Amino acid sequence: MKKYEEYMKKVGDRRDLYNLLSINFPIKKVLYPGSYVDITPSIYFSYTVYVDNDKKAKKFFKKENIIKEFISENKEYPENYYIKYYPNDYRSKFDEEKNSFDLLISLYAGFISKYCKNYLKDGGFLLVNDSHGDASMAKLDRNFRLIAVIDYKNSKPVISQKNLDQYFILKKQFAVTPSFLEEYKKGIDFTKKADFYLFKLEY
Ligand SMILES: C[S@@+](CC[C@H](N)C(=O)[O-])C[C@H]1O[C@@H](n2cnc3c(N)ncnc32)[C@H](O)[C@@H]1O
Repeated sequence: MKKYEEYMKKVGDRRDLYNLLSINFPIKKVLYPGSYVDITPSIYFSYTVYVDNDKKAKKFFKKENIIKEFISENKEYPENYYIKYYPNDYRSKFDEEKNSFDLLISLYAGFISKYCKNYLKDGGFLLVNDSHGDASMAKLDRNFRLIAVIDYKNSKPVISQKNLDQYFILKKQFAVTPSFLEEYKKGIDFTKKADFYLFKLEY
């Protein structure tokens, strides 16, 4: 698990973040496209699916026994765990049931809200940041409703469901469209930003 530990040291420990979600929302089945080697969700959610086509991610997920031992030793739920990895491009189809996941994770890995939305069930959640513009992309999607923001305060994630209409307000007015975001590929300069956004899928 050296690769995982080194990576989490680099990007920051996310255990508190996933713990917060697991406590506050009914989430069991999680899809994490563009995960790289971040298997932290498996500590808090019993059914986790990872999709990443990076060479190093493929090598990491080959060490199945070590990963399984890590989850068994660290999991915070009583039931058995399930973990699956696809070495795929998440923009192409992979063999998971549509409309079935409780949570879709999109962190620093492109427009996952667009390409993997169909795996999320009606009423499911999207955890997303705006590093690559994917939170902005979700905001443009009429089926995603912003229900909370999460900010780190004193190194702890804090969730808020208040004043959500203060987010995604442009400093300078211009037409933000999906094609603009796909070209731009980074977060927009909004008047107020959060570290993470939580959307709910509602058809
Ligand atoms: C910057 S890393 C972020 C990893 C992780 N989400 C995190 O927050 O620590 C981006 C990852 O997304 C993966 N990725 C980007 N586009 C992808 C695609 N179309 N299909 C599969 N994986 C992709 C890359 O291979 C890389 O591992």
